[in-house]
Amino acid sequence: MAHRDDGSAPTGERRYGRVRRIGITGLSGYLGERLAVAVQQAGHHPVDLGRSNGLDLLDPGSVQDVVMALAPDTVIHAAAAANPGRLEDSFDAVNRVGSAAVATATASIGARLVHVSTDLVLSGRAGPYADDAAADPLGAYGRSKAAAEAEVRRIDPTAAVVRTSIIYGLHRIDRSTAGFLDRLRRGEPLELFTDVVRQPVWVDALAAGLVRLAVELPAVSGTLNLAGDQALDRAAFGRRMLAWWGLERSAFDRVVDGRAAPTFPAVALDLRLGLDRARALGLACHGVDEVLTRATLNAPPEQPA
Ligand SMILES: NC(=O)c1ccc[n+]([C@@H]2O[C@H](COP(=O)([O-])OP(=O)(O)OC[C@H]3O[C@@H](n4cnc5c(N)ncnc54)[C@H](OP(=O)(O)O)[C@@H]3O)[C@@H](O)[C@H]2O)c1
Repeated sequence: MAHRDDGSAPTGERRYGRVRRIGITGLSGYLGERLAVAVQQAGHHPVDLGRSNGLDLLDPGSVQDVVMALAPDTVIHAAAAANPGRLEDSFDAVNRVGSAAVATATASIGARLVHVSTDLVLSGRAGPYADDAAADPLGAYGRSKAAAEAEVRRIDPTAAVVRTSIIYGLHRIDRSTAGFLDRLRRGEPLELFTDVVRQPVWVDALAAGLVRLAVELPAVSGTLNLAGDQALDRAAFGRRMLAWWGLERSAFDRVVDGRAAPTFPAVALDLRLGLDRARALGLACHGVDEVLTRATLNAPPEQPA
């Protein structure tokens, strides 16, 4: 049974109008936990639209019930199934059907919707990609997220659909880097691809941008890219993350360069993203080196005012 639970009072200085109740799906996830922080820093209330409040994306009825009961002003839909081990129908049920349920529920109460999508809706055969590039995914996860985008835009044409890249944070290690570290510390080798290019996004800049889209930029609709402005191959990015998370110098000898293309035809290679819309809206797009340099100097990049 859903119950009203706003959590703690906002800790930040409210920057925009009245205090909003910002619903977050996926609040327990890697992005979601920083979204809750960003919402509070902007002076608003995070509202947990997750399983702990009875919302299961596999059950559209529960989505409608919980959204109606908790009545958020705006919703950031960050929950998804991303585990590559899942069957395609699970991707579809959580990501497409679940996102359609979220869009239907938010539209029914007139709440603003910001939907979190991924660069993997694109094939990587024609990068860099503009904000409005047509989806042409290669894998099951990307297909389900592309289908989710289409459902959300059909149900709520006013929704903002945000395509982002690999998410990393400096407060908590991301899953990929954690897996790499484990392997290397077990003494195993690690191959990282030099032909897979991404624009990794700092989780706190992404979270701040999503909150701005939710609250301050309600007229923004359709797809837009929000990522870091530094394109890096997976090997270069992986090495930077391993260094940040303290991999011993000697273990770097076991990190070897490889190429995805000859062996993995379903891996999207060049997912560089054009950031014209994000820049025009004043959303922060710090590159990895800028974020790491400033963090090393103990001065994290400023969030937009
Ligand atoms: N991570 C990346 O590098 C990356 C890159 C591009 C785009 N994205 C997108 O960014 C968003 C956030 O990704 P993330 O890496 O932060 O995700 P994550 O850490 O894997 O967390 C997934 C979240 O979704 C929730 N969830 C999954 N199935 C659910 C269900 N049936 N009902 C309700 N909630 C459910 C989980 O809740 P439980 O804790 O209850 O399971 C969890 O809070 C996703 O939309 C993803 O597609 C991620």
